[in-house]
Amino acid sequence: MSDIRKAIENEHAHRVREMFGTIAGRYDLLNHLLSGQMDKRWRRLVAKRLQQTLFPGQMKILDVACGTGDLSLELFDTINAQVVGTDFCRPMLDIAAKKVAKSQSGIPLIEGDALRLPFLDRSFDGVTIAFGLRNLSDVEGGLTELLRVLKPGGSLAVLEFSKPVIPGFSFLFKAYFTKLLPFVGGLLSGSKSAYQYLPDSVLKFPDQRELAATMLRLGFDRVQYENLTGGIAALHMGVRPQ
Ligand SMILES: C[S@@+](CC[C@H](N)C(=O)[O-])C[C@H]1O[C@@H](n2cnc3c(N)ncnc32)[C@H](O)[C@@H]1O
Repeated sequence: MSDIRKAIENEHAHRVREMFGTIAGRYDLLNHLLSGQMDKRWRRLVAKRLQQTLFPGQMKILDVACGTGDLSLELFDTINAQVVGTDFCRPMLDIAAKKVAKSQSGIPLIEGDALRLPFLDRSFDGVTIAFGLRNLSDVEGGLTELLRVLKPGGSLAVLEFSKPVIPGFSFLFKAYFTKLLPFVGGLLSGSKSAYQYLPDSVLKFPDQRELAATMLRLGFDRVQYENLTGGIAALHMGVRPQ
């Protein structure tokens, strides 16, 4: 990687880490409030869909960019698997750690960068990333890294904001997402820029079809996606070939 590219990545990672560090204390509240609790349903669906791909005995799951740990705990509750959470933002992990302690799930939370995961090749039967991929400075590099740590036959689940697919609804949602959400989010979190970054980063992120095509091109098999709540979010699944 060139020095310039490396510097751009470092700068991006630094900004994203700082931003989540600033809003960590309000992150869960705002997530549930601004999504009308839909985020909880979406995470439940991720756990259910991943469970459908696993065979008995395939029970090691990595939740990348786990943040405050909601998906990691959902995976543990639904699949009763050995779940590991990883994120590069300490304040987000600190909140996850409190929830893990209360749950007695014993989920290990490991500080790490999604672009250089601190795990060996072919370590996990399932890998998830929820609302994390969009934040990476290099989306393709991130997907390649997720593929690396999956065992052959293992599945990746990507939950991410996407492009609404119902025309009238799409217009209304855009107004909400680009105007009202940054205003309310900024007010309640104390970080205007974090909640302006949210719609900005979603608008730059590939839509459902593009992301599916990228996953296929990078080597995932059986790539499919489903639109959630009219395409506000999408769940992409793909398998590491044998
Ligand atoms: C929007 S939050 C999502 C958290 C959680 N997965 C959820 O469903 O609520 C995005 C998370 O991605 C993490 N993140 C962003 N870039 C990362 C990177 N390069 N490596 C590891 N974590 C990253 C942030 O620290 C933050 O906790």
